[in-house]
Formats: sequence, C-alpha cells, structure tokens
Amino acid sequence: MHYFAYHDGVLHAEDVSLPRIAAEVGTPFYCYSTATLVRHVRVLEEAFAGQDAVICFAVKANSNQAVLATMARAGAGMDVVSEGELRRARAAGVPADKIIFAGVGKSREEMAYALGEGIFSFNVESEPELRALSEVAEGLGVTARVALRVNPDVDAKTHAKISTGKSENKFGIPYLDAPRLYAEARTLPGLDVSGIHMHIGSQITDLAPFRDAFRLMRDLTLELRGAGHAIHHLDIGGGLGVPYRGSNDVPPHPDEYAALVKEALGDLGARIYLEPGRMIAGNAGILVTRVQYVKAGAGKRFTIVDGAMNDLLRPTLYEAYHEVWPVLESRLAGPRVLQDIVGPVCETGDYLAIERELPAFEPFELLAVMTAGAYGAVMSSTYNTRLLVPEVLVDGSSFAVVRPRPSYDDLIGLDRLPPWLES
Ligand SMILES: Cc1ncc(COP(=O)(O)O)c(C=O)c1O
Repeated sequence: MHYFAYHDGVLHAEDVSLPRIAAEVGTPFYCYSTATLVRHVRVLEEAFAGQDAVICFAVKANSNQAVLATMARAGAGMDVVSEGELRRARAAGVPADKIIFAGVGKSREEMAYALGEGIFSFNVESEPELRALSEVAEGLGVTARVALRVNPDVDAKTHAKISTGKSENKFGIPYLDAPRLYAEARTLPGLDVSGIHMHIGSQITDLAPFRDAFRLMRDLTLELRGAGHAIHHLDIGGGLGVPYRGSNDVPPHPDEYAALVKEALGDLGARIYLEPGRMIAGNAGILVTRVQYVKAGAGKRFTIVDGAMNDLLRPTLYEAYHEVWPVLESRLAGPRVLQDIVGPVCETGDYLAIERELPAFEPFELLAVMTAGAYGAVMSSTYNTRLLVPEVLVDGSSFAVVRPRPSYDDLIGLDRLPPWLES
C-alpha cells in the first residue's frame, strides 16, 4: 500500500500535488512518500511482534540521506555494503550497533573503518575475507562480530540478475563448506563468529524459496551448535517482493513471511536480523517525467519523455515492469494506444516501459513511473551528460528537495584538464 493517489483529478504524493512539485523542481524527479516508508517499517514490525527481530534497512535500495533519516527515526537499523553506505547510515543518525556490513569485496580499509565505528556485525562471504578481517581486527586490537554468508543453493525464482542464492552466484560460501569454515574461523584471532547469514535474492514473490532457505539455516544452526559454536544471531537477508504490476503480482504479506520465520527459526533462541530494501522503499517512490514528443512509429507509438535510462535503469537492466500513471486522472477514461515510453538517451535500451496499452499521452503532460523508490535513484547516472535526477521527499502537505539537480557547471566541473591540455 502507498500514498500516491488522485485527489480532485490530480495525482498527489500524500497531500502534495505532483504538478506543484514539477513547477518548482522541474522534471524528471523522484518523489518519495514519508508515510509510505514509515508504514512499511511498521507493517514489518507488527508482523514480527513477539519475535526477537531487528529490521536493518538495505541502504543499497535507497541511500538518500532524508530517506535514511526517516528510517532511522522509525527505529530501523541498516544493512550496508560499502564504507560510503556506512558513512551515509551514520550521518543519518543510525546507531553503529544497529549496522550490519555485507558485500563480497570489502577492502581492508573499509573493514578498519567499520571496526572503528563499532558496527554490530560483518557478513563475511569467503575464506580469504575471513582471514583479512581477522588480521585487520587483530591489528586494531578489537574483535569483529561475524556471520558467515552461506549460499544455500536455493533457486529464488526471480530475475537472473537479482538471484543470489544459487551455487553459481558469486555470493557467500557453499553450504557444505560451512562447518569447515566455522571451525577454521574459531581458530582465527580477532573474530567472534556467532551468526549465520543468508540472502537468496530480491523481488521474491513466493514463500517456497524462503521456506527452503530457512530450513537449511535451521539445520546448519543445530549442526554448528552441536559442534560447539555459539550461534546467537540469524540474518535472513531481504528479498520480499513488491507488487510492480498492481494486483496482478501480489507478493506474500509480511505476516505470512514472519509466520514462516517463526515456524522455521523461532525456537532456536537466536535474534533474527532482516535486511529489507525493496519491500520498504519500492512503492514509496515514483519517478515523475514530462512528455516531450509523440512520434508515430511503424505499428506503435513512441512517447518520448524527459526521464531516461540514466534516471531509472531497472527497465532495461532487469526487463523490469513499472506501471505508468497519467498525472491527470481524466486521461484514464480515454482510449488506450500501444506505445513505448522512451527517453532521450542514445541507446535502444533507453525505455521506461515498452509495448504498453496506455492513454494517448500528449506533449507536456506529466507521467508517473510507479514503484520506483528502490533501486531507482541509487542507480542513476549522468550518462549522455544528463544532470543527475533530483529527489523530493513529501511528508503530509510539505515537500522538500532532498537531492537538488546539479548545474551543468557542477557536472562538467568535476573533470580536470591535464597540464598539457591547459593552454
Ligand atoms: C545481502 C543483501 N541483503 C539485502 C538486500 C535487499 O534486498 P531487497 O531489496 O530485495 O529486500 C540485498 C539486495 O540485493 C542484498 O544483496
């Protein structure tokens, strides 16, 4: 559920009309709804009420400082995958002891920084990384809490580029290697290996892969404890999907997911860590874009808008589907025409929607690309020397620009001429 709806015939974010924001900010822009973000945290909290569970928002999904500060105030911890994300989480006011550091390629400098901050735990993904972390922690005279990320070889039945729990994916250590690595980890100085981590993929719309993964996590917990390891926390990752196609793809409700966690892991006496990203931020954000031109193609129409693949990469990167809503509700009543919604970037893959039956949009009209709050602005770039897309946060009847559109001077000024080209 989200708080983007038509009021008096015009699409609003909470109580703010999108044309009002567009008039002030220009297009394209991302628009986030505070009420939606907070609601999703509360829905998860309620689902896990009675379980010892900690929600760590996956910063990679949306790392805007205003979004992170909203999450921090709602009480969420954070899951980060780089020193940059860790710095963002800390700057947004997240206590270090609610931060988990994941990722396959942490550098020694990043490890040292995170240890200096006193984060809760590292999710370690390989034997060499385990040894590196041990050396860094020992060198600093501190102990790093660790969960090994175990790859359960479970098919999450999601898009290949967001499936992470199959043996052919780069993530984690093989399930069958886990007992040996936990035994080795116990001999290494500077480590307190007391957790297990699994994350099998993203945009998962079926509980079955989770059920399989949790069962394996349970078996491994019991096996490791039997071998004398103290396993205190289980990080079950993120991955719960969102309804990109409205009522046509309804993911499991957080209540069902939480019930599954309770059933599989509830009696183990371990604290559960969750790393939701998309489920919290996905439909809390939209991309608003303006139609530039309408072009008749052979057999279909091209609606050329001012938003592009550099602003929202998901359609071309993952063949992702985003609903496109007219900002004027009256357009919904008109006839539909087959069309592609494309941007100005010089790439065939530059589209926001393809082969859709949508209203016959007209130049200068505003459109909203829905469910774009996760993995949207974070992946934006300046390809084609387009200005980085701005972000706006709405809260009730207020809105604020939370990442301004840079100027061309800002953008071009990042480059430097070498001395031999200066004169
Ligand atoms: C380790 C890890 N945790 C959590 C997430 C967040 O996943 P989602 O946004 O699907 O909840 C990801 C996403 O790729 C991830 O790699």
